[in-house]
Amino acid sequence: MSVCEFKPGLEGIPAAESSISCVDGQQGILEYRGIRIEELAQKSTFLETSYLLIWGKLPTKEELAEFVHEVQYHRRIKYRIRDMMKSFPESGHPMDALQASAAALGLFYSLRELDNPIYVRDSVVRLLATIPTMVAAFQLMRKGNDPVRPRDDLDYSANFLYMLHEREPDPLAARIFDVCLMLHAEHTMNASTFSARVTASTLTDPYAVVASAVGTLGGPLHGGANEEVIGMLEEIGSVENVRPYLESRLEKKAKIMGFGHRVYKVKDPRATILQNLAEQLFEKFGHDKYYDIAVEMERVVAEKLSHKGIYPNVDFYSGLVYRKLGIPTDLFTPIFAIARVAGWLAHWKEQLVQNRIFRPTQVYNGLHDVPYTAIEER
Ligand code: CMC
Repeated sequence: MSVCEFKPGLEGIPAAESSISCVDGQQGILEYRGIRIEELAQKSTFLETSYLLIWGKLPTKEELAEFVHEVQYHRRIKYRIRDMMKSFPESGHPMDALQASAAALGLFYSLRELDNPIYVRDSVVRLLATIPTMVAAFQLMRKGNDPVRPRDDLDYSANFLYMLHEREPDPLAARIFDVCLMLHAEHTMNASTFSARVTASTLTDPYAVVASAVGTLGGPLHGGANEEVIGMLEEIGSVENVRPYLESRLEKKAKIMGFGHRVYKVKDPRATILQNLAEQLFEKFGHDKYYDIAVEMERVVAEKLSHKGIYPNVDFYSGLVYRKLGIPTDLFTPIFAIARVAGWLAHWKEQLVQNRIFRPTQVYNGLHDVPYTAIEER
C-alpha cells in the first residue's frame, strides 16, 4: 500500500538535479548557467546562448564560429521530409506538423550512439538547424507555395524570417526576433522539459525526445498560451472593454491567458523584456492598438489578482512582438519550440550523464478484488 502524499502537478517535487538554468520566482530572476537573462538578451545571440545552455560555458570566438558554421551548413531539410510535409492537411496545426516532422527526422538517423560525443553534437546541430526550416516550409506549403531555401549569408534569426516571408528582414526586426528566441530557450523543469527528460531517460534518440517535448509544449496551459492571448486581446477589442471582460472571466473562475506561473509570484522578467521589445518595434514600425489593451489588462489584473501573485508571464507580450513581425498567430508556439529546442537538448545531454529511467509511483484509489461480471449480466 502506498503512503506517499500525492502532489497534483508534482508541485514542489524536484524531478532532477540540474545546472542549466535557475528561476527565483519571488524576485523575478532567471539565469542560464548563472548568467542573468537580461544580460544575455543585451549581449548574446540565440546560437551563442544555445551553446552556453548545451555545453555549459560560453564558447570562445573559434568555438562559436565553428558552431554557427555547422548549424548554417545543416539548415536544409531532406526532400523526403519536405514531401511528407506537403501531404499534411493545410488546416492542421503547425505544432502537429512540427512534432511529426521532428519525429520523422529520426528515421534518417537511426543510430543511437548516445555515448559518442560526435553523435551528440551532430544531433544537436541538426535539430537546431532544421527545426526553423521545417516551421517555415510548412507555413509556405500550406499556402500552396514552394518552401524557400535557407540563405547562408543570413544569420539564424534573419534566415528564419527570410524563409517565412520570402524577403530579407529589417535588421532591428531580426535582432528582436533573436532576443525572443534567447528568452524562450530554457526555463528549468517546465512541462515540456520534464517530458523531454522522461523520454530521454529511456535512452531513445534525441529526435523522439524533441518530438515528445513539442507535443507537450503545444497545450494552452504551456506554450500554446501565447496564441490564446492574441485571441483574447482581439475579443476584448478596446481598452474600455478590459475591465468588464476580466470581471466576467474571473466571476466564472476562468483563467486569464498570459498570466500566472507555478514559479513566478512577480512579473516574469522575460515579460518585462518582451514588453520593451514590443515598444521598440512599435516605435519603428507603428503602434498596435492591442498593446494598449494589454497594458490596461496588466493594470486591472494586478488590481484584482496580485494578492495571489498573478502577473504577466512570458506569453503575455510575446504575441504582440510576433504580430508586429508579421508572424501568423498559429506559428507563435512553433517559434517557442524553435527556441526551446536548445533547452530540451541541454536537458537531454544532462539526463544522459547520470541517467536513471523515470518511473514514479502513484496513489492507487481504485477498487480491489472485484469479481468479473459476465457480459450478459452487465
Ligand atoms: N487567471 C486567473 N487566475 C489564475 C491564473 C490566471 N491566469 N493563474 C492562476 N490563477 C489562480 C487560480 O485560479 C488559483 O486560484 P485559487 O487558489 O483561488 O483556486 C491560483 O491562482 C493558483 O492557480 P493554479 O492553476 O493552481 O496554478 P498552477 O501553478 O497550477 O498553474 C499556470 C500555472 C501557468 C498553468 C496558470 O497560472 C495558468 O493556467 N495560466 C494561464 C495560462 C498561461 O498563461 N500559461 C502560460 C504559462 S507560462 C509559459 C509556459 O509555461 O509555457
